[in-house]
Amino acid sequence: MTDDDEVPVPLPDEIDSEPPSIEEIVVDGEVEPDQIYNGDCLELLKALPDGSVQSIITSPPYNIGKSYETNSPMEEYLEEHRKVIEECYRVLTDEGSIFWQVAVTTRDGHHYPLDVKFFPIFEETGFVPRNRIIWPKSHGLHGRIRFSCRHETMLWFTKTEDHYFNVDPVRIPQKWPNKKSYQGDNKGEVTSNPDGKNPGDVWDIGHVKWNHEEQTLHEAQFPEDLVERALLSTSREGDLVLDPYAGSATVPVVAQDNDRHFLGAEKEYKYWKIAQLRLAGVPDKNGNYANLKLLREAGRENSSEYGYHRRPAEPQEAEEGQKTLADLSED
Ligand SMILES: C[S@@+](CC[C@H](N)C(=O)[O-])C[C@H]1O[C@@H](n2cnc3c(N)ncnc32)[C@H](O)[C@@H]1O
Repeated sequence: MTDDDEVPVPLPDEIDSEPPSIEEIVVDGEVEPDQIYNGDCLELLKALPDGSVQSIITSPPYNIGKSYETNSPMEEYLEEHRKVIEECYRVLTDEGSIFWQVAVTTRDGHHYPLDVKFFPIFEETGFVPRNRIIWPKSHGLHGRIRFSCRHETMLWFTKTEDHYFNVDPVRIPQKWPNKKSYQGDNKGEVTSNPDGKNPGDVWDIGHVKWNHEEQTLHEAQFPEDLVERALLSTSREGDLVLDPYAGSATVPVVAQDNDRHFLGAEKEYKYWKIAQLRLAGVPDKNGNYANLKLLREAGRENSSEYGYHRRPAEPQEAEEGQKTLADLSED
């Protein structure tokens, strides 16, 4: 447990600064939920009972040299994750789902969409493919030898054919809500579902970038709204939701806000601490919250001062071979 980040993350007295051990998370073979393990996700996964988790929603390291990851050869990276994916399969309920959100990595100027690389691993593990969700983005590195990449993806697989899926809590407004049938028995009746439509597989939800309302010091946070759609459609109240790469705890925060139980693993202590702060709903010195629900309840969504232990405004110097958000080009 180290705390060597240049942006200190002090925890208030009411938050225990000692992360739980595996023995405190799985007691006599039973899960004690609503905790985040500060360590390797494979250790946590191996300790979890079979069929104990309803939904896994996660974004693993992309292997692009961010501060929390090593830049491994592709095959090595994929094989490491195969072990995690196999454990995820074991711990899911028969009705369970996994969402695996990734982007692309470049090697020697070549473009590798990570979902394409991961897809066969999920199939070989026995997962049933459900959707390849496109998550568009309006910003990013500028391509010099190709079109600039402007989307990420989220693969959705289920453990079996009999998966739980409820689209009702995640319906979006109809494009033509008052359109009426012009012939037949239903002539004159509204043709579309008044409760809204299925949101489809292109999820145009804003990314967490510099100055985003949710931004913490984590450099690869995904937005609560993206997680909420996956969580609400594949789990019920009281179910257990897991993020093996929890980061700043976006998935646990959304689970908690929606009356689900959560578990997470995060190897970096500084992110584990941010997670505790977000989950506790403790405001920063400006009275603002990193937890979006609390932020919105406090009417702060338009504030320019929100944020919570945010990253320094100036991106840090990149290590050799490491990319930062300051990089202007993919190659
Ligand atoms: C892409 S980020 C996830 C960010 C998260 N979705 C959020 O919204 O904050 C991946 C995270 O996985 C963590 N990580 C990488 N390898 C890990 C491992 N083997 N076990 C646990 N955490 C790991 C990294 O430290 C990083 O915080």
